[in-house]
Amino acid sequence: MTADLFEDEQPPEPAQQALAPGAVLLRGFARDTGAIVLAQLDRLLAAAPLRHLVTPGGHTMSVAMSNCGALGWVSDRRGYRYTQRDPLSGQPWPAMPATWRELAVRAAAEAGFAGFAPDACLINQYLPGSKLSLHQDRDEPDVSAPIVSLSLGLPAVFLFGTPQRADRPKRYRLQHGDGVVWGGPARLAYHGVAPLADGEHPLLGRRRINLTFRQAG
Ligand code: SIN
Ligand code: FE2
Repeated sequence: MTADLFEDEQPPEPAQQALAPGAVLLRGFARDTGAIVLAQLDRLLAAAPLRHLVTPGGHTMSVAMSNCGALGWVSDRRGYRYTQRDPLSGQPWPAMPATWRELAVRAAAEAGFAGFAPDACLINQYLPGSKLSLHQDRDEPDVSAPIVSLSLGLPAVFLFGTPQRADRPKRYRLQHGDGVVWGGPARLAYHGVAPLADGEHPLLGRRRINLTFRQAG
C-alpha cells in the first residue's frame, strides 16, 4: 500500500478536537437540535430582552446579552456579577429550558466532565462587527465546573489561549451547532471572539447566538 492510493480521500473532520488539556471543541454537537434550541429563544428574549451591558471601565459591549436560569451574568459600572433578577425588569431571569440544560450536560459529559449542573445560561447575540475581547470567565465561585458554550447561526472566529494573558490565543472557526467545553486546567483560559463577519444564516439571519452555560451558584 502506498500513500498515493489515498490521495483523493479527505480525512473526516474529527467530531472532537482537543484545544488544550481540559478544552474540547465538539463539532456539530447541536447541528440537528439547533432548531429545537432556537424555538425557545424568542420567548426567553421577550421576557428578558437583549441589552448592551456597560463594563466597569465604562465601555458599552458590542455583544447584546441576556440570561436564563436561576442566575444571570450582568455588568455595570459597579462590576461583573451574577444576579437572581433581571435588573431591567426586577423579575427573576426566565427558567432555563430543560432541552437547553440537557444539551449542556451532555456536551460536558462528552468532554469528560460528568455531573455538570448549570444554573446560569448567558445568551450572547453577535451582529456583523460585534466582538468579545479576550477575557477569563472567573465570576463563578467554584471553578471546578467547566464552561459549556454552544454556537448557533453565523460562523465566528473563536480565540482560545491559556490561563496566561501573554500567550497568543489560537483561532478556531465555530459554526452553527458547534460546542466548546473548557474546564480543569483550561478553566481559566483567556478566550474571545473576533469581529463577526457579515453573512446570512438560514435559521438566524444576520446574527450569531452563543449560549454559555455555567455553574455560578
Ligand atoms: C463568552 O465568552 O461568554 C462567549 C464566547 C462565544 O461567544 O463564543
Ligand atoms: Fe467568556
